[in-house]
Order: sequence, then C-alpha cells, then structure tokens
Amino acid sequence: MSAEAELAAVGQRLLDPAAPVLERLEALEDADVPVRVFVAARHDAVTGVMCEEQVFSLRHYDELLEQVLPGTRYLVGEDNSARQVRLRQLHAAQAWLDARRAPETLGEPPQMAPGFRNWIAAIAREEADSILDVLERRAATGEAVNFAREYAFLIAYRMARRIIGVPAPEKAPGLVRMIVMWRNTLRPGAWLRLKDELGDSVALLVMLQPLFGHVFGTVVRSPSALQALSRRTAGPALDAIDQALATPETAPEDSLLSALVAVKPQFAGVVDYDAQARSVLFELTGALVLIIGKSLSEMAGFATSPAGAAAGIDWDGLVARLDDRTATVRDHDAIVNEMLRLTGGSRLTRTVRHDCQWRGIDLRAGDRVVVLIDAASRDPAAFAQPERFQADPTRPYITSGPLQGPHVCYGRGIAWTIMREAIVATKGRIAPADGTTLSLFAGLPDDLPFVACRQ
Ligand code: HEM
Repeated sequence: MSAEAELAAVGQRLLDPAAPVLERLEALEDADVPVRVFVAARHDAVTGVMCEEQVFSLRHYDELLEQVLPGTRYLVGEDNSARQVRLRQLHAAQAWLDARRAPETLGEPPQMAPGFRNWIAAIAREEADSILDVLERRAATGEAVNFAREYAFLIAYRMARRIIGVPAPEKAPGLVRMIVMWRNTLRPGAWLRLKDELGDSVALLVMLQPLFGHVFGTVVRSPSALQALSRRTAGPALDAIDQALATPETAPEDSLLSALVAVKPQFAGVVDYDAQARSVLFELTGALVLIIGKSLSEMAGFATSPAGAAAGIDWDGLVARLDDRTATVRDHDAIVNEMLRLTGGSRLTRTVRHDCQWRGIDLRAGDRVVVLIDAASRDPAAFAQPERFQADPTRPYITSGPLQGPHVCYGRGIAWTIMREAIVATKGRIAPADGTTLSLFAGLPDDLPFVACRQ
C-alpha cells in the first residue's frame, strides 16, 4: 500500500470515536531523520492540535522556508518577535487602508468588516465582468472556456494584483517557460501562452507552486529536487516584490503594498522593515493566486460532477444560492465553507515542542503531527450526514484552519467574498460544458470546460 493510501486508511480509522486521538504512521517517516510521525483526523483532535500552540509549534514551516529562501517567513510560522513585527505591519497597513475607505467595523476583525468586504466584492465583480466580457466572444465560435485557467486562476491573479499590489516578474524565468512547455506537450487542448495577463497569471502560479508543495506538502524532509525547483522558481517572485517595494508608485493606490510603504514611518526602530514587509506581501500573494484559484476550480469541479449531484448540490443550485439577495453574508459564507468542506483535501503539519503526554499519547520533542483537515471535515461527530451538502453557519468549519488563536486565516473574508462574487458573476455568461470534468496537472486544477452563453 502506498503511504498516501495508508494515510487515507488511518484517517478513516481515527474517525471512530473509540480510536485513540493520534496514531503513529511509520510510512510517513524518513529512515535518515530520527523523527516520528503521528496523524490526527477527528475534528476535536485536529482542532486541539491546531490551537494548542504551547504543545505544537509551527516552526516546521520556518525551517522549510529557510532551506530554500533564507530570511523569508510566513505568518504561518513560529510566533516569535519577527512574526510580531509582520503582524503589526499587516494591521497598520490594514488600518491605513480602512481609514481611506472608512468601513463600518461593527467590532469584527478589520479584514472581516462589512466595509472591507464590500470593497473586495466590488473589485471582484469588476474583474469578473471584465474577464467574462472577453470570454463572451466564444459564444459565436463555440470554443470552450477553460474555467480553471481562463477564469478561476485569472481572477485570483487579478485580485492579487489589485489588492496586494505585486506584479508578476516582467519576464518569466527560463525554468518557468520550460515547465509551461512541458505542460503544453502533455495536456490536450489549447496551449497556455506566456503573454498578456493570462500569461502573467500562469507564470506567477508556476513560480509559487513548487514552494507551496515544499512548505505545505512536506512532513519530514522534502526531496532535494523539489528544494532546488522551489528556490529557482520562487526566487524571481521575491525579486519582483523587492522591485515593487522600491517603486511603490507603480502599485495600485489602495493596495497592501502602497499601505505598507505609507505606514513605514510608524516603524522607525525596525531595521529590517522591508525584508519583513516583503515576506508579508509574498505570503498573501501566494495565498491569493494559488489557494483562491485552486479552491474556486475545485468547487466548480465538484458542483458539476456526479459527486456533487449525489451530495445534493449542482452548479445552477450553487449559483442561485450564492445569488440569493435575501440571504445574509453569514449564509453565503456558510455555502462557500460547505463547498470547501466537501471538496478540500488540505493537511497541515505541526512539530511537538517538548516531551509530553497529550490526551493519553506519549509524544517526544520533534515528533511531527499531520492533521487531516479533509477527514475532520467529514467527521460525523461534528457534521451530521457528512456526505450531504448542508450549508449552515453554525457548523464548525475548519477548512481555513484554526477557528481561534494566533493563527486564524487572515484571508478568509477576502477568499469567501471573491469566490462568491466570481461564481455569481458567471450567471447567464458561462455555463458548464456537457459532461465537463476537472482535470489536473502537477496536482493543480488545469482544465474544466465551460461554454460561453449566447446573450
Ligand atoms: C479558500 C481559501 C483559503 C483557505 C482554504 C485557507 C486556508 C488556511 C489555513 C488552513 C490556514 C492555517 C494554516 C496553518 O495553521 O498551518 C490559513 C492561514 C492563513 N491564511 Fe488562509 N486560506 C485561504 C485564503 C487565504 C487568502 C486569500 C489569504 C490572503 C489574502 C490567506 C492568508 C492566510 C494567512 C496570512 C494565514 C496565516 C495566519 C497566521 O498564522 O497568522 N488565506 N489559511
């Protein structure tokens, strides 16, 4: 049995209420590294591992980033003084942006405030409409629309460009060109071309994907080839951020990049201000470009598949529910979360800080714990009838990580808003092609045929 199959089997076993809270999985261990690997799958266990930072650290992410991009860090990392600087930068920049747009805050975290989300929604609608205006011409020719590449990843890139403010590098690096060429020879259908904005979105995605695989896909040690690939693809993306920070006048006025430059005088004592700001911009750009495009494609792939029909949701039903103006933002967020719950396959890794006993299991400092968000999102103890689509704001969704504590997903309001607007905007403009199926390339959505509607 492959390690992947063993992991899935352990995930199923651990959902039994009588099962232990963690199970060791040697198939994920590495003979050359003296580290044990445990798996958590039950909703309560996964939540505990994600929230109990005094037991489980995020230093694994720091170490993996340091291997390939020295000095670069994510907020998803150890909660040390440098992370505190990045958090303060993000909050100061957010406050600067909010002051310009004067949102209603209503006691919510600023990035969840209605004023902020309305601003994101308006930009998302504008970007969606402008992409759909171009795709509309296909109604006459009958040429298919690739929902994943030409809509989901493109809108994600354009949103990143507008709200974070970082452009793709002027010229795609040679290695990126080779990867795209490789994809074009292996995949049927239209070639991806590295020109125009679609080309920029493809290039940036290819530049960020290996690094995400290295940081979020590694449990013990990543192959040296993946490390080299991550270094060579992500390095130029960081250079583009340095360049953008040095020429902030080229970024959109209301972008995070402009805000970070504007609030810099508030950080007089921080000598590495730009290096930390660069990490913030890099992390948020990656999350937007990669996670939103991927999640949007997967949600569409699910809603257009027999599995979606079996769960009780199809594409038209999804569009209609998200378009329902009588529903609240909480209801719409629950619909997006429910789709992520049914489609998502994410896993996170934590490192045990000290020798200890956790909920009856003996752990050693350095042990890794893999938390299966996908299994926990189908735990019948937390989600009655887990295979059915039953959007409900009171359900304990953990699709975007911990629900409380220092590592709550910063971008969830941004993500849910963009995904809702992107799906609603397709109404009457593009629709699933008959028998459409989501296909992947290198683990990411690559094609989902849609057709342009005749107006
Ligand atoms: C469907 C979309 C998204 C999903 C499923 C998602 C998921 C997650 C998950 C699982 C975590 C926790 C990681 C961990 O604890 O190991 C997280 C954290 C985070 N996310 Fe998201 N995310 C999404 C969109 C975004 C977007 C669009 C942004 C940025 C604009 C973003 C920014 C962040 C940041 C900065 C953190 C780290 C929080 C911290 O540790 O301080 N996310 N997200």
